[in-house]
Amino acid sequence: MRVPLIAANWKMYKTVAEAVKYVKELRGLVKDLDGVEIVLAPPFTALHAAAEAARNSNVGMAAQDLYWEREGAFTGEVSGQMIREAGAEYVIVGHSERRTLFGESDATVNRKLTAALAVGLCPIGCIGETLDQRERKETFDVLDRQIRQGLDGLTSDQIGQLVIAYEPVWAIGTGRTATPQQAGEAHSHIRGRLRQWFGQEAAELCHVIYGGSVKPDNARDLMAQADIDGALVGGASLDVRGFLQIVRGARAPV
Ligand code: PGA
Repeated sequence: MRVPLIAANWKMYKTVAEAVKYVKELRGLVKDLDGVEIVLAPPFTALHAAAEAARNSNVGMAAQDLYWEREGAFTGEVSGQMIREAGAEYVIVGHSERRTLFGESDATVNRKLTAALAVGLCPIGCIGETLDQRERKETFDVLDRQIRQGLDGLTSDQIGQLVIAYEPVWAIGTGRTATPQQAGEAHSHIRGRLRQWFGQEAAELCHVIYGGSVKPDNARDLMAQADIDGALVGGASLDVRGFLQIVRGARAPV
């Protein structure tokens, strides 16, 4: 059975001091909690300090992006090895903000996913349709393209290690969550494609989590959907108590 995964995407929020304070508080609050995996994605500047503060706890770390080269003249970029060394086990790849604001394509997402896996980072690869695409009934076509091109060349084994975040772009930061039915339908579609293209075992192992205005009061209903294995939480993860409620709501029966 897939253990639910709740990941906090802090985006460009929190200083080093704020991140460390949050982690210290959270680790105490979740120390006896099992049946759920908890991951925080601070900005790069706070990653190492947050990872140190989370050492020997059940709180894991993610970076929000990576570059696919190991090292070199790539001003502003950070490699997978550097992220591992800073203390993260996960990395978010292809978030819709990276796609729309920073021009990332399915091809760059593919290179980043491949590079992350190659250094033993678990990628959280993001996909999702815009409002226009949903209204034109293109949601499944968009997801198919993002899965096919984003995961191109990955083995079934690698798919089994992956986390895919379904984040409808129209639901991110808007307060407009997908209904459990809408999200459930998209997740079943994604799982079906993984089964078809990478095999039953890979599809069963791969986590498919939901993101887009997840809040303490809607998380439980979303997580109750059969193919939703957790959440990628932006705004509502910035407050430790609110995030804790979401984590609690996602726990698998233990
Ligand atoms: P949100 O962001 O929870 O603030 O909608 C989710 C995300 O962008 O990952």
